Amino acid sequence: MEITHTHLPERFSWGVCDPLKDDDMTELCEFLHKNYMNDGQYYTNYTPEFVKWSLTFPDYDPKAYVCVRYKSKSGVLKLAGFIAGLLQTFCVDGAETKGAYIDYLSVLKKLRKKGLAPVIISELIKYGVTIGVKQSIYISAIAFPHAFTQSTTFVYPINVAHLTKIGKMQEGCPPDRFPVSDETNQYHVPELADVPSLCMLINKYLSRFRLHSIVSQKHIEHLIDGVKSGLFHMYVLKNKTGDITDLISFDSHEETRCDGTAKFVTCGAYYNIHTTVKMRDLVMDAISLAKRIGADLYKLTDIMDNIDAISALPFCNSQQGFYFYSHNCELKKKVTPSDVAMITP
Ligand SMILES: CC(C)(COP(=O)(O)OP(=O)(O)OC[C@H]1O[C@@H](n2cnc3c(N)ncnc32)[C@H](O)[C@@H]1OP(=O)(O)O)[C@@H](O)C(=O)NCCC(=O)NCCS
Repeated sequence: MEITHTHLPERFSWGVCDPLKDDDMTELCEFLHKNYMNDGQYYTNYTPEFVKWSLTFPDYDPKAYVCVRYKSKSGVLKLAGFIAGLLQTFCVDGAETKGAYIDYLSVLKKLRKKGLAPVIISELIKYGVTIGVKQSIYISAIAFPHAFTQSTTFVYPINVAHLTKIGKMQEGCPPDRFPVSDETNQYHVPELADVPSLCMLINKYLSRFRLHSIVSQKHIEHLIDGVKSGLFHMYVLKNKTGDITDLISFDSHEETRCDGTAKFVTCGAYYNIHTTVKMRDLVMDAISLAKRIGADLYKLTDIMDNIDAISALPFCNSQQGFYFYSHNCELKKKVTPSDVAMITP
């Protein structure tokens, strides 16, 4: 089914960003550095390799990576906005659906508040209808009306001296910090042979939440590929029969000062699943493992049951977080962040 594209002003055109084209990924990364996670002081330094990996999960659809380009005065086509519809199966209050989790939504800073974001969103929704995807979940760092819940991000400074030196030590952090140890429980980096056990553990855990992703073995293989390429980090504990019982996972990005004069490394938690160790101990181990790969800061958002670790450890409130929006999802009652377990595939 063809879609009728929304009319754009002169010089603007619709396009897609193909993760298999290096030029597209370089262009997208440069755009994201300036316009996605960029607060005017620091930006998240996504690498083309990471963005490509995050957009090439099994069964991804490049047509769901919609962008708007504009022709500059010198005649060069440049990105004005981007949205990635990450297609996945998710479950909302017991109803399973093939839906899209929206990532990397961003509009060129100088074109903000002109109504471009809803046009890009509706273009993706129109495309979704043609492939049977009718529901989607969005996050935004900025508040708009109709958010169904709001999460808060907490941070654990690891390299306090470095963060203080560059002025990134969080204000209001609890003064009594636990020194981050170099010792952890006996974690292994998972292998492809661990995929079935890992998939079972993750889906069992996610199914406890009202709004949750459902992952396939192919998705876990993709995560493990990311681990092998150094783009993602996973550590597991196993029982005597070799089944995985506990899982730590996080990504890792350099945050760069916009003028290039300072950097720090942030690890952001994905799944922290505990069945044999306490959540507090698991997260302390996650922080130690993040330190081992050079992280200055560890981030944990109060979704899933992360709040158990956040309240047991001297985390600092970053005063930032995400607003969650939905399109076409029927939410039976008020949602709290700890009802949400949506994960990028
Ligand atoms: C979020 C962002 C794309 C919005 O662009 P914008 O130009 O400021 O927004 P616009 O004025 O064009 O449009 C606002 C409308 O889009 C909708 N919208 C914008 N971002 C949205 C999102 N992430 N989810 C759902 N709806 C969103 C709003 O509900 C609002 O609708 P309304 O006009 O009916 O109230 C832009 O601020 C941005 O690039 N921010 C940085 C990156 C970011 O936070 N991305 C979000 C994912 S983390």
